[in-house]
Amino acid sequence: MARRRLAPPVRFTFDGLYSSALPDETLLQALSRRRVPTLTRSIKYHRPRGPLCGTGQCAGCLVRVNGTPNVRACQTYPKEGDHVRTENAWPSVRLDLFAVFDRLFPRHLDTLHGFRRPLFLRPTYHAVVRRLAGTGRLPDDPPAAPPKSPERRECTYLVVGGGKAGARAARALASSKGAPKVLLLERRRETSLGKSPIPPNLRVERGTSLAFLPPPRLSGAGEGGKVPFVAVASRETGGAFDIRASRVLLATGAYDSFLV
Ligand code: FES
Repeated sequence: MARRRLAPPVRFTFDGLYSSALPDETLLQALSRRRVPTLTRSIKYHRPRGPLCGTGQCAGCLVRVNGTPNVRACQTYPKEGDHVRTENAWPSVRLDLFAVFDRLFPRHLDTLHGFRRPLFLRPTYHAVVRRLAGTGRLPDDPPAAPPKSPERRECTYLVVGGGKAGARAARALASSKGAPKVLLLERRRETSLGKSPIPPNLRVERGTSLAFLPPPRLSGAGEGGKVPFVAVASRETGGAFDIRASRVLLATGAYDSFLV
């Protein structure tokens, strides 16, 4: 019997140390092999934070990847040679000197009304408050090219969510009378469409989330009675979509249960 050859692991660095991930393993899975890591610190008091949901819904796994801030480790598949760093802490996420604010202000640190006087110290205050309130520094490199303008997707039905219900609905709609154009959006890499061939009038965009759902009063106000939607694609796919759809079906389900 022929032996199946496993793909080699993907090597990357995490806070300067070499690490590796199995193919198809997310950054969070690779980093959590021994124990669930502390990946970031809370905004104001710099308390340790770790992954909570594992599904891209919280801010507990934000890391800096190749100079790009605030990348969700649980939604990212590392590539060979990636440099991953923890952020929002100094000098390191384990020993963060900014955590002193948690000790100094055990009840409340009022950044809205405090930090005003004396006047000549205001620039310093602002710098401190900005540092306390931010998550991640700006990207290392400005984008080489201006962002691509969103690709237009016209469809009759927009189905949001490629889980079991969404996938079944999308297939059923695509096979309905007149073979209408159907667009299925799924924020993860996989859908529940299964292995059977996908009809040509059903288009699937993976790694893509709906960012703008117009209020009901706008329905029918767009070109040709179509309603405009905006969807953003993940880091892997890049870009955004300007979607025009006559009908939308939300099959987003409930939140998945949290990892922790
Ligand atoms: S977003 Fe990654 S653990 Fe919640």
